[in-house]
Amino acid sequence: MPPFSLPDFLADTRVWVESALDALVPPLGARPARLHAAMRHSLFAGGKRLRPALCVAAGLAFGAPLDDLRYPAAAIECLHTYTLIHDDLPCMDDDTLRRGRPTCHVAFDYPTALLAGDALQALAFQLAAQTPKNAAKVVLALAAAASSLGVVGGQQEDLESEKLTFATGDVDEPAADLTRKEALERLHYIQLHKTADLFRAPLHMGALAAGASDADLVPLTAYAEALGEAFQVADDILDATATSAQMGKSTGADAAHHKLTAVTLLGLDAARQRLEELTVRAADTLSPLQAQLAPEALAPLRAFPMALLRRTH
Ligand code: IPE
Ligand code: IPE
Ligand code: MG
Ligand code: MG
Ligand code: MG
Repeated sequence: MPPFSLPDFLADTRVWVESALDALVPPLGARPARLHAAMRHSLFAGGKRLRPALCVAAGLAFGAPLDDLRYPAAAIECLHTYTLIHDDLPCMDDDTLRRGRPTCHVAFDYPTALLAGDALQALAFQLAAQTPKNAAKVVLALAAAASSLGVVGGQQEDLESEKLTFATGDVDEPAADLTRKEALERLHYIQLHKTADLFRAPLHMGALAAGASDADLVPLTAYAEALGEAFQVADDILDATATSAQMGKSTGADAAHHKLTAVTLLGLDAARQRLEELTVRAADTLSPLQAQLAPEALAPLRAFPMALLRRTH
């Protein structure tokens, strides 16, 4: 058997999930045509499809047939895309470029973008509920990540933080709203919920679709927390260092919006160090699964941390 290649795995998953989405999302002509055009504009705009890939990686590791992962993989991409559409709205991050295209509200209009996000969220649950095995648990895993204790909670604190001042050095600044310790704690909360929760959901959904037990999910939770936080730290670094052409979205906006991010709080060097620590931690969390699963079964999950450390878009 040839050695495992993550780029090939991601490319194959992308083609597979995009064909599933095309079949499962209402077609372009379906009424209201403008709403479905807006949903498809954001969905088929060249996302990396990492969350479906995590769903497939976990599902295959626990022995699911690929076909059984079609609904949960499509579901998580719909949910993720809804969060991006809303994240870009003027009342949130106010961005004009996403996935290399004008954002949904720029290409259409604000109400249509709001409704496209709403509809994609509903569709996500409709798809998750059709998972052939363990559907109720798959829906619950998605709901937990989508909830006020999940991504919506993370987004709330992300936005509230724009109005708070915090110490950026190693010591507290008496005039700042948040002490250094409070700012670090809040940054962790934001990254865990706005990002890592949407990594945990597909991992759990894939494993559950394979018939995994609740105990099997425990190492996947630890993996998602480290990997998801690493992913957001990398996003924060890229916001400060990459070009908008490279990322397919605007960059440099975190500092301009006074966001509380790994870079604005820790500085670039310490953020890079934190990314490395989280990458090592994410790889370590897979140890308990090594006794249970064959090395080939774990290969995709093992490959993700290093790839995220090195990512350039
Ligand atoms: C963007 O996620 C939102 C963050 C959590 C930083 P991705 O970087 O995975 O976006 P797409 O799906 O590839 O567009
Ligand atoms: C967004 O984080 C995370 C969600 C959309 C839930 P960011 O605001 O950093 O994502 P980008 O940089 O706009 O993709
Ligand atoms: Mg945001
Ligand atoms: Mg944003
Ligand atoms: Mg960002």
